[in-house]
Parts: sequence; structure tokens; C-alpha cells
Amino acid sequence: MPESKPPALPPATPRVMLQPLTLAHLPRVKAWKNDPALAHMIAALTGPFSDADVADWLARNGSDPCQWLRGIFRPGQDEPLGVARLMFIDRVNAVAELGMYLGAAQARGQGLGRAVVHALLAHGFGPLSLERIHLRVLEDNVAAIRCYEASGFRHEGRWRAHVRGPAGRLDMLLMGILRREFVATSLEARP
Ligand SMILES: CC(C)(COP(=O)(O)OP(=O)(O)OC[C@H]1O[C@@H](n2cnc3c(N)ncnc32)[C@H](O)[C@@H]1OP(=O)(O)O)[C@@H](O)C(=O)NCCC(=O)NCCS
Repeated sequence: MPESKPPALPPATPRVMLQPLTLAHLPRVKAWKNDPALAHMIAALTGPFSDADVADWLARNGSDPCQWLRGIFRPGQDEPLGVARLMFIDRVNAVAELGMYLGAAQARGQGLGRAVVHALLAHGFGPLSLERIHLRVLEDNVAAIRCYEASGFRHEGRWRAHVRGPAGRLDMLLMGILRREFVATSLEARP
């Protein structure tokens, strides 16, 4: 049983909507997956990825029962701004890992990241009934670390020299948030 009920906090006009990604979004997703700067920030494999690779990625991840994969959209718009997901959903222990990116650099730094994190946490602690959500973030990703801290994530540890960076090896920081912490921060944020 969950320790406490998460509050339902849908903003009157949400800044972002998390909706399924389809093959119609393939060109945009492909461009992001082939962006080396973005690949570094999310510690992902660099391309090149073909149309077939990306179609396969969308199909596999979109149908993975242990994953909630969504595109990030502004309300009323068809073109996604990025990708947001809860991965490795473990229903026995009620935990999952959060991953996200705003693909276009122009979309960053406007508060959308915090809105996306809130939507992911609301889904994880709401319909998915999770008790804990964690994430990994590279030590040089200042914007992401600040975004997660501002969203209520706590620092829980680091894997030292875990990733090969352009100027040497980098630590991977581990952060997490519990259901009760999300409930508390959401209530504090209420007007
Ligand atoms: C990380 C990311 C999701 C953050 O989203 P965002 O919309 O850019 O961030 P926000 O505008 O919501 O800002 C959240 C906080 O970070 C701070 N911030 C944003 N950009 C920053 C920057 N470049 N340097 C320092 N702080 C920054 C904001 O001031 C804000 O803090 P505050 O609430 O205390 O004012 C987005 O920048 C992104 O997609 N980056 C590329 C991919 C990536 O790194 N994904 C995460 C991998 S773990």
C-alpha cells in the first residue's frame, strides 16, 4: 500500500503535455538521436542512427511493459520538443528510473524541464503507484542537476569516473525522490 496519497495537481493550463510518440515524429527523434552534444548530456550512444534504427527504437521502447515513454509537447502542438520516460519500472518494489531531454536547445532554460519532471513524477507516484523514482545525471550537466534539485530530487551518491567525457572521465551522480517527498513539495508549491 502506498504510504500517502499523491495530490492531484493538474495545472489549469499545463505548460507541457506528455503524449505517445509515433512514426510521424521519427524525423525529429532521429535528429536528436544523431546530435552528439545531446548524446553527451544524456550519456547515450552516439549515432549515426538510420530511419530503421529509430523506428525500431520507438517500437521497442514504446511497447516495453517496464517503460512509460512519451514525447514532450506544448499544448495544441503536434511536433514534440523532446522525450520523457520512466524506465525499468519495477512493480515488485514500486520503483523506476526517470530520463528526459528537451531536444531543441531553444526549448531549454524556460522552465519546461521542471514542468516535465513534475508531469513524470505525477504519473509515477499517481497511476503507477511508485514509491521511489531515481535518475542518473553527469556531474558536468549543471542545468539538469539544478532542474532535478529544484524538483525535489536529493543527491544519493555517485559512480566515480563512470563515463568517458571529451576532457576526461566524469562522475555519474545518482539522485532520487520518494513519494512522501513529492507529496510534501507539491503541497508546498500550492498557491
Ligand atoms: C536538463 C533539462 C531537461 C532542464 O530543463 P530546462 O527546461 O532547460 O530547465 P528549467 O528551465 O526548467 O530550469 C530548471 C532549473 O535549472 C536552472 N537552469 C536551467 N538551465 C541552467 C543552466 N544552463 N545553468 C544553470 N542552471 C540552469 C534553472 O534556473 C532552474 O532553477 P530554478 O528553478 O532554481 O530557477 C534541459 O536543459 C535538457 O533537456 N537538456 C539537455 C538534455 C539533458 O541534459 N537531459 C538530462 C539528462 S540527465
